Amino acid sequence: MTRIALIGILIISLVVTIPWIQSLEDEPNQVNWAQRLDGEKGVVTNLQFYFHDTVTGQNPTAVRVAQASDTSTSLTLFGALMMVDDPLTESPDPSSKLVGRAQGLYGSAAQSDFGLIMVLNYGFTDGIYNGSSFSVLGLNQAMHQVREMAIVGGTGLFRMARGYASAKTYYMNPLTGNAIVGYNVTLFT
Ligand SMILES: *[C@@H]1O[C@H](CO)[C@@H](O)[C@H](O)[C@H]1NC(C)=O
Ligand SMILES: *[C@@H]1O[C@H](CO)[C@@H](O)[C@H](O)[C@H]1NC(C)=O
Repeated sequence: MTRIALIGILIISLVVTIPWIQSLEDEPNQVNWAQRLDGEKGVVTNLQFYFHDTVTGQNPTAVRVAQASDTSTSLTLFGALMMVDDPLTESPDPSSKLVGRAQGLYGSAAQSDFGLIMVLNYGFTDGIYNGSSFSVLGLNQAMHQVREMAIVGGTGLFRMARGYASAKTYYMNPLTGNAIVGYNVTLFT
């Protein structure tokens, strides 16, 4: 009787601990800024992160690499072209966890309303997304409250991605031009 009870306890404890061990193994890959849902037609991934664009100060992450002869007299800085390497973090706090970087170009492409053409690779370094990226190509009307931009492809877990990014300025210093922008991204792979 005690042997049977012992075996019973052993089986119960195995059943209880195995899922626990598996969830511990999954733990290192868990990230707070991404949600991956496997559906019938593929995977839908939702990402939430913050983009830090520093144009002035000691360590700018966005630098002007070209401009037109009359960019400086244009109210929308038409013709200014920036090369950027902007950190992406989990929360608006610049010292929060780094999850990736947005690298590429944005330039003033609009003469009346302020509009930036974004040609950027959003590459991630956190958890299971380390090494995966998606590409944005779209107009960012930065003075509008919410801007939507197209996602035109990706690599790694985001291979063949289609999707859209919605961006909302969280903080902007009009004197320095430095900004923190919140992103909500939906990707279909
Ligand atoms: C991401 O992957 C690279 C190359 O495989 C590795 O060197 C790096 O440590 C990884 N980063 C993180 C944060 O895990
Ligand atoms: C992202 O979604 C949250 C709600 O889930 C919302 O509060 C926030 O304003 C959205 N941000 C952007 C950039 O659209």
